[in-house]
Amino acid sequence: MTQVTHDVLIIGSGAAGLTAALALAETKKVLVLAKGDLRSGSTAWAQGGIAAVLDAGDTFENHVRDTMVAGAGLNRRETVEFVIERAPAAIARLVALGVPFNAEGADLHLTREGGHSHRRIVHVDDATGWAVQAALLKAAEEHPNVTLLPGRACIDLITGRHGEKFSGDGRVWGAYALDEATGRVERHIARATVLASGGAGRVYLFSTAPRGATGDGIAMAWRAGARVSNMEMMQFHPTCLYNLEVKNFLITEAVRGEGGRLFNPVTGQRYMEQYDPERMELAPRDIVARANDDQIKRYGLDYVHLDISHQPPEFVRGHFPTIHEKLLGLGIDMTKDPIPVVPAQHYTCGGVLVDLDARTDLPGLWAAGECTESGLHGANRLASNSLLECFVFGEAAAKDILAHWDGLSAPPPIREWDESRVTDSDEEVVIKQTWTEIRRFMWNYVGIVRTTKRLERAAHRIALLRREVDDYYGAFRVTTDLIELRNLIEAADLIVQSALKRHESRGLHFTLDYPETDAVARDTVLVP
Ligand code: FAD
Ligand code: SIN
Repeated sequence: MTQVTHDVLIIGSGAAGLTAALALAETKKVLVLAKGDLRSGSTAWAQGGIAAVLDAGDTFENHVRDTMVAGAGLNRRETVEFVIERAPAAIARLVALGVPFNAEGADLHLTREGGHSHRRIVHVDDATGWAVQAALLKAAEEHPNVTLLPGRACIDLITGRHGEKFSGDGRVWGAYALDEATGRVERHIARATVLASGGAGRVYLFSTAPRGATGDGIAMAWRAGARVSNMEMMQFHPTCLYNLEVKNFLITEAVRGEGGRLFNPVTGQRYMEQYDPERMELAPRDIVARANDDQIKRYGLDYVHLDISHQPPEFVRGHFPTIHEKLLGLGIDMTKDPIPVVPAQHYTCGGVLVDLDARTDLPGLWAAGECTESGLHGANRLASNSLLECFVFGEAAAKDILAHWDGLSAPPPIREWDESRVTDSDEEVVIKQTWTEIRRFMWNYVGIVRTTKRLERAAHRIALLRREVDDYYGAFRVTTDLIELRNLIEAADLIVQSALKRHESRGLHFTLDYPETDAVARDTVLVP
């Protein structure tokens, strides 16, 4: 079959991928692949908003300081400044695309979230991500130079190893992807590839992230030879709805930002004063999540209560229309009732190591968004800094690709996907069983509070399961479930190996065996 070469391949149609696509499309032809639906990433689920210094009383320095305090000093200051200084321009671009941010007169309305010393979160009610995703998708769909292909699950990056003539130089030339409708594996060859495939939250039993957040991009880049950093820094959101029917529904931090308080449902005590008496419910997320976890474990609770019923009903309905409506459907009126909440995995702070140009270690591969570790978040992401990172690094990747375009050589002949030695699986149950097993031991052994013994138990389980999954992968035709399982086990391993390397407690990594924080903050960098 003749070899078609795209200018740029983008893996992922969330905020990072579409930002890069739109910035490249002025002069390049861009192909965007997405697993499942084009809106299936975390972007569409984002509630709270986007952090940016827009108020005259606020400063970049304040935002930088808040980001580094939340990140427990592990952030790279250069990256933090780079992102925060570009936030107002990123918001202006979104306004120009038609994102209907809430406004107060001529100014955008700013809400507040944990860890922020000022009101600086722009938002579209309590469903910011949906509006951002819609605006980016509309612009991409209308652009003649952007082709969007949903229903494509990338399996592996194409490198020199996949050339008809073998080369071990690690240069990336696109990706092999499963067409989820036909079951065929396609070659998508490109001069430049941008990884924007989101996080790995579904490695945990309870997560606010969508089903496809299985760390595919992180695992693909790792297998291709890129370094991965700070994977032990998995963020747990303090307030995910506790409900036996509806799993994974986030109750935005903005509820606490607008006055919501946490109570122990048995003692009736407002307990945050025991954990962070100054900032209370607006302490950074790692502190509030650990407090909730501690109350639940100490009192044998199923959940704690988040209560905003002291605010006027019209205020609550006006600020949180989506959450209010969703809860009413479950018999909870948040204008009168407390909301049962539990902590749940929420964000992957670590990922593929990138520089300020969104370059990875591998020539031809750029990366942006939640699949990366850029130095912005450090040991704990400050609320609403994530979408911002997607916009800034999506742009940075595009800019760097365009700046170096003439130096990007054409690909060599690449081999077709070889299915000659595999058959259709007759044991799909293995995938389900293994998937459930991983998510459960990751929750129990590699969760909010860790110990070396539990991490070692998890490492042992991973080694056993990896052998089984590798055997399965070698024998059977790929499906999306199998692709995800293979990546999930890779992501679990990267998290556990990173956690075992960190002999201190810092930010999101809290271990009973090393409760102190070292004087010097160091990244955990894994080298393939
Ligand atoms: P995503 O938006 O997750 O997109 C990933 C894309 O990659 C998808 O298109 C997916 O289909 C594709 N993909 C994945 N694997 C493959 C594969 N193998 N092959 C092909 N395609 C693939 N952050 C904020 O800043 N503010 C908020 O208010 C906020 N609220 C949040 C609320 C929730 C419930 C959640 C889960 C997260 C929230 N976050 C928030 C975090 C933020 O939404 C994400 O970090 C951000 O949207 C990630 O964007 P992304 O472009 O990196 O990836
Ligand atoms: C939220 O709305 O609480 C999520 C904000 C974020 O993840 O940044």
